[in-house]
Amino acid sequence: MSIDSEVSAHYSRGGLLSRLNAALRDDGVDPERPSMEALAPYDQFHGRGLEATLEIAELAQPGPADHILDIGSGIGGPARYFANRFGCRVTGIDLTAEFCDVARHLTHMLDLEDRIAFEVGDALAMQFGEAGFDGAYSMNVSMNIRDKGRFYREIHRVLKPGAWLVLSEVAKGEGGDLDYPTPWAGSARTSFLSTPEETQRGLLEAGFDVVRVHSTLDKALAFGARSRAMVERGEKPPHRAVMLIHGEIATQAMRNTARGLSEGKIIPVEVLARKRP
Ligand SMILES: C[S@@+](CC[C@H](N)C(=O)[O-])C[C@H]1O[C@@H](n2cnc3c(N)ncnc32)[C@H](O)[C@@H]1O
Repeated sequence: MSIDSEVSAHYSRGGLLSRLNAALRDDGVDPERPSMEALAPYDQFHGRGLEATLEIAELAQPGPADHILDIGSGIGGPARYFANRFGCRVTGIDLTAEFCDVARHLTHMLDLEDRIAFEVGDALAMQFGEAGFDGAYSMNVSMNIRDKGRFYREIHRVLKPGAWLVLSEVAKGEGGDLDYPTPWAGSARTSFLSTPEETQRGLLEAGFDVVRVHSTLDKALAFGARSRAMVERGEKPPHRAVMLIHGEIATQAMRNTARGLSEGKIIPVEVLARKRP
């Protein structure tokens, strides 16, 4: 199996929309009329969910006339948040066809399809022309990408000069090898972590100025502790995307991530860069 097929197979088990609709019903939400708030525990598929998307939005700050690119857009929570908050257009690209189908469905439910499109595609060979986007972000995707240089060069190609790029990713720490599964990979075969320094160097080499690289480790640890306390009290935690998408491997994947964070094996980072004019 190719790496791309293995990555897609890790994320796609079939039946995602039915599972999401059942979860919404269990929350007392009509799946035919969900609100952005009701979807947020499920459609923000990255560490700390919506809380992290708000931070990425603060770094990016697109204008209403901008057309921005979401690389590895998942089921589209971040894209809907950006389009709704800033009034901008968003195009999402993702390797996993089932995610794009669910992303389109949810976007239709929220009446945002005039501003958001989702396309199946590979971040390493995007179907977009040169210098078409005013900005781009990518949340928790690069960990699946082995050829980081090509990834950064391809993003650089499709951005306008001076455009911003925000990345959130799980970076490699100094605490040794991570255990699998994790939310992004079933095994080390499809997990390609780089250190924050390697990310910074790769972006510079691809033609970006790096404005800021920032660890969110403290926030991730606090979010994990808060979530575990809620579960112990019998409440639903704020972030339920991993359970929804990964089913039976979710608990182990979340445990491995929590241990990786506390033992310094992984560090969540947010990066703001700009394509050199
Ligand atoms: C952890 S999910 C994050 C989804 C979304 N960014 C979010 O935060 O809600 C990682 C996503 O990256 C996508 N992905 C991984 N490798 C990719 C590639 N080479 N090209 C496009 N998408 C990719 C996966 O299909 C998956 O949807």
